[in-house]
Amino acid sequence: MNMSGSDETPAVLIEGLTKRYGRTLALDKVSFDVKRGELFALLGPNGAGKTTMLHILCTILRADEGRAQINGVDIAKDPLGARLNIGVVFQEPSLDDRLTCVENLNFHGLVYGVPAYARAKRIEQMLAVVELSDWRDRLVRTLSSGMKRRLEIARALVHDSRILFLDEPTVGLDAQARDRMWSYIRQLREQHGLTVVVTTHYIEEVEGCDRVCVIDHGKVLAIDTPAALKARHGQELLRVTPRDAAAGAEIAADYADRIVRHDGEIVLRSDGDAFVEALFNKYGPRIRRLAVEEPSLESVFLSLTGRELRDQAASARDVTYAFGKRGGEHTK
Ligand SMILES: Nc1ncnc2c1ncn2[C@@H]1O[C@H](COP(=O)(O)OP(=O)(O)O)[C@@H](O)[C@H]1O
Ligand SMILES: [Mg+2]
Repeated sequence: MNMSGSDETPAVLIEGLTKRYGRTLALDKVSFDVKRGELFALLGPNGAGKTTMLHILCTILRADEGRAQINGVDIAKDPLGARLNIGVVFQEPSLDDRLTCVENLNFHGLVYGVPAYARAKRIEQMLAVVELSDWRDRLVRTLSSGMKRRLEIARALVHDSRILFLDEPTVGLDAQARDRMWSYIRQLREQHGLTVVVTTHYIEEVEGCDRVCVIDHGKVLAIDTPAALKARHGQELLRVTPRDAAAGAEIAADYADRIVRHDGEIVLRSDGDAFVEALFNKYGPRIRRLAVEEPSLESVFLSLTGRELRDQAASARDVTYAFGKRGGEHTK
């Protein structure tokens, strides 16, 4: 582990990072820092640039412009030094299915030059954290996708890294496995003092993070705590379920300038109690249901981008992932 950074040194410092793939501008002058011990989320739809960002920080990919430091170590000047500070769980599964859990972790420790005794100890410790001790000698291919994801977390921490990068750790997992994954992430942060940077396109997941960086088309749109984001960019929404299609069409036309979505249910940007009351007075008998929704992170994304995040179709990559297939089969 590199100990050069003092307590004041941010875990991650990024200034003006830019990356192009041909004509695609994947990252556009991205700047932010992640404090030590922080649980930091990079939130954005598919194609936002999250994986590109993580690959640059892991020194797999070179930025075209800008600079970045991991724990005070410049990733361009000392990529190996930077790497020793981080553990990574990639978006694509990368375990060896034909090896056991312990064998996978041991191989990783060897590659990172962790001495035998420390390695053995650390492996058992990390298996215990992700509750896979009973599975240590099982072949990885016999594990569920949630267990494989947990094993990848354990592997990322075998070389005693203090900063953990997780790229979409919950994609393809069922609700229960997703909750469990997040409880490990929180536990690692709280009990082991790790800095965690996690990317996701699931907006509901970032509610418990310390800070959220909203990214879209390679640009940072906002960075703050979930509460501050909601206070500043959040929007109260009104969900109207009309009695019939005719009523729906009329309401939609009347409130055309406030419509977020109209698919049977009409979602409007609300404007306080008087607005709701006026709508109710006018259309009350023709409305089946009316619900006011407090400003949510979903509405933050909406007001920052003009789109709803949940409408994003899964990319080919996500689909293959959800079926538990190996990477490399997607069409990109
Ligand atoms: N190897 C690549 N070659 C060309 N374009 C790429 C490559 N990887 C990513 N892109 C493009 O860069 C943009 C950002 O992609 P990515 O970093 O994977 O976003 P995210 O992880 O947020 O889904 C997208 O437009 C994507 O199509
Ligand atoms: Mg990605």
